[in-house]
This record gives sequence, structure tokens and C-alpha cells, in this order.
Amino acid sequence: MAKIAVLGAGYVGITSAACFAYLDHQIMVSDINESRIAQLDRGECPIIEAGLGELLVEGISRGNLHFTVDNNLAVSSADFVFVCLPTPQGENGVADTSYVQKAIRGVASQLKSGAIVVTKSTVPVGSTKIIEEALNRSDVAVVSNPEFLREGSAVDDFLNPDRVVVGSTDVNAAQKVAGLYSKLNTKIFLTDPASAETIKYAANAFLATKISYINAIAAVCEGVGADVLAVIEGIGSDRRIGRSFLNPGPGWGGSCFPKDTKALVKIAESGGYDFALLRGVIEVNEQQYDRVAHKILNVTRSHSEVLQVCVLGLTFKAGTDDLRDSPSLLVIQKLRNAGAEVRAFDPTVSPPNSNLDGIVLCNSAQSAASGADVIAILTEWPEFMELRPVDFFKIVRTPNVVDARNLLNRENWLGAGLSYRDVGR
Ligand code: UDX
Ligand code: UDX
Repeated sequence: MAKIAVLGAGYVGITSAACFAYLDHQIMVSDINESRIAQLDRGECPIIEAGLGELLVEGISRGNLHFTVDNNLAVSSADFVFVCLPTPQGENGVADTSYVQKAIRGVASQLKSGAIVVTKSTVPVGSTKIIEEALNRSDVAVVSNPEFLREGSAVDDFLNPDRVVVGSTDVNAAQKVAGLYSKLNTKIFLTDPASAETIKYAANAFLATKISYINAIAAVCEGVGADVLAVIEGIGSDRRIGRSFLNPGPGWGGSCFPKDTKALVKIAESGGYDFALLRGVIEVNEQQYDRVAHKILNVTRSHSEVLQVCVLGLTFKAGTDDLRDSPSLLVIQKLRNAGAEVRAFDPTVSPPNSNLDGIVLCNSAQSAASGADVIAILTEWPEFMELRPVDFFKIVRTPNVVDARNLLNRENWLGAGLSYRDVGR
């Protein structure tokens, strides 16, 4: 049982804290956001994440999960200090590590001798050195331990990881960090800090590449009359390619891929390499927002009034309430720039919401579709598969569907008299 401080109670921080508590470690989470800490203290989970609420309540009731707004209090008796602070996209794509550095400088003198600082935030290659300098403590080691959890399945990803990556020049410290995961049946991958930091970016960039690739193949299929779903099965069954992350859609988004891909282009540049492939992946993704918006704007209709668009799904993917860099919002922006009016529904987003200015937020899919000229599926919420096409045929102004997630049953919607377009067919 180790004493762990977690700085930053965001998606990564809360999940890591609750899971480490579940693994019988003693946890103190610190965050500058007082209302978030108060909420957590009451055992309320501030984010939608499967299984996380239960783990939080369990950790609090077992007495090994605590919350504070005081970083120094959190770290004072800690053996390990996990840094889960934001590293947002900074000037021209370079990751901004100012929150991390400021917090590290703030707690440096409070750390007990022999404590280990662990970076879980996605930080540019070389950051371990920068953090060591900010700490300026020869008796405190710094270890890189990137996270690979996905929002929506964060708890499962943390407790059933494909691997745990630990990077440090201090082998003893690295093994101690690896020991924190000893109860998990997984591969521990020990390496140097720069390689560990690079693994995180390379993994995210590769996954983004896979998605941009299948979106590009979907465009080819549309051009030559092939069926992308058949192509996906045909290539995905090749073990060298693999079926996962080959779902075409409105483009990739979220709090990680957009900023991490841009950051990696910059990291490569700083190392003297022009990462043209990755710049292409980012460009294809931005084109995908346009392709989907174009499909929605160009549906057939018998009137010349303002296009009324019903958008189903606002979050960057199903299973989370996170709107950060959501492809849905980026497509909606293009629709509104083209003069369309948007009514939207998302099961996790309730009005009012300042991120959604200019969008009429509705409490149901039916109310969002009422009087619409096109129904656009932009997030793959499973509940949209239960919608009855006949109910929508009755309430729309013009019966058009653009399914940017290939989620619905095409035959059912066509059978009910609606036109149906998706991605790659
Ligand atoms: C964060 C990083 O943004 C991401 O790059 C990294 O890969 C994982 O950790 P996430 O957990 O999604 O991702 O961040 P976010 O949800 O924004 O949470 C960050 C938390 O840190 C917020 O609760 C914020 O209040 C807190 N914070 C921010 C501090 O406690 N101190 C600060 O100085 C800044
Ligand atoms: C990602 C990485 O998967 C995770 O390992 C890392 O730790 C953080 O970043 P996350 O941002 O939660 O996780 O989302 P992810 O499930 O990877 O989806 C990213 C985007 O790609 C979403 O917009 C999603 O809709 C899209 N996507 C994903 C597709 O369009 N097609 C796919 O096949 C998979």
C-alpha cells in the first residue's frame, strides 16, 4: 500500500485516483477547482464515465480516497505524486506545459525525500528533464507514466491495460512506479523517459492515422461505388491491420487526438523531421468535417427556405459528456456558417450550455427533428439505433437522413420513406 498524491481531478486524474484506491493504495487528490473538490468530497462524480462513480464512493467509504484544494497538503506525506494536469494546445500547436511546471515548482519544497514525481499528463518529449529542473531536488526522482485510457471506458482501460509504460533514468524509481500496478495482469514496459513520452504521442497519432485512413477509403468507396463496410471487414480481418479504430465517421476529435497530433508534428520539427504523413492525417480529418457538412447541406428539398438541420449527438463520441474538440460541433459550425439553422439533441448535454451558442438544444430526438429538412447523426449513441423511422417521417419537413456514423439500419429508414446517406457507401 503506497501513499499517492494526484494533482488534477480531470478525466485522467479522477480515474487514476479511484482506480489506485481500488488497488488498495492511499490516495489524496488535489485540484484548484473548489466546487469540483466539494462535489468529489460528497462522493459525486463530476464527469460521465462508466463505473467511476461507484469506485469513488467505494474509495471514500473505505477511507483511502481523499480530496483537497491544497497541493502542498496532498504531497506532504506522499511516496508518489501523479501529475494529471492539463497540457492544452499552445502557440502553433506546441503543448503548453505551464500548468505542470507551475504546480511542480509550487510543491517542490514540500516533497519528502525519496518521493517520486510521476507524469501522467501528455507532455512533449524531453519534459521529464524540464520537470527535474523545475523540481531541483536530487532526492526526488521523476518518472514518465503516460496513460492510454479512452473516455467512456476509462476505468476498464485503467484496470485492464494492454500495457503500462514507465520511463525513467532511475531504474529503482521506475520499478517502484511499476509496482503500483502489480495487481493488474498486464505487461510492464520499462524504458527511458524520452521513449516513454514518445510512445504516448506515437500511439495517439497512429490511432488517428487509422481513422483518417478509413475516412479516406470511405471517400474512395463513394467515388467508385464500393461499400466501405465490406472493405472494412475485408481489410480488418487481416491481423496485420486489425478491425479496431476502422469506423468511418465525421472525423476524429476529443481532448487528446487534435492536440496530440499537432504537438507531435511540432516535436518532430524540433528534432529536424518534417512529419508530412501526420500533417496529411490532420488535413484529411479537417476535410472530413467539410465532407460531412457538404452532405448535410446538399440534401434534396423542394423549398428554398432556410435549411433546418436536426443534429443527433454533440459529444466527440458516445459514452462521454465531453464536448472538447467535438467533430459534431465543428460540423455544426460549418452548417451555421452556410446559413443553416440547427436544433440538436444529445443524451448527456442539457440546456443551457455556453458551448452551444446559436444551436437550439432540445430534450429529445423527436423535438430536435420536428420540422427538420435533414436528420444528421453525428455521435454514435446506441439509443439512436432504437429510434423508429416512421415516427420521424411524420414530423420532419423534408425526409432526409445523413448518418455520419453509419449507425442506423439503412433499409429501415429507406423503407419508411426517408432518403439515407452515410459515410462510404
Ligand atoms: C489531462 C491533460 O489535459 C491531458 O493532456 C493528459 O493527457 C491527461 O490529463 P484531462 O484529465 O482530460 O487530461 O484534463 P482535464 O479534464 O482538463 O482536467 C484537468 C484538471 O486539472 C481540472 O480539473 C483542473 O481544474 C485541474 N487543474 C488545472 C489544477 O488542479 N491545477 C491547475 O493549475 C490547472
Ligand atoms: C484517445 C485514445 O484512444 C486514448 O488511448 C488516449 O489515452 C486518449 O485519446 P479518447 O480521446 O477518449 O482516447 O477517444 P477515442 O476513443 O480514441 O476516439 C477519438 C476520436 O476518434 C473520437 O472523435 C471518435 O469518435 C473517433 N473515432 C474513434 C472514429 O471516428 N473511428 C474509430 O474507429 C474510433
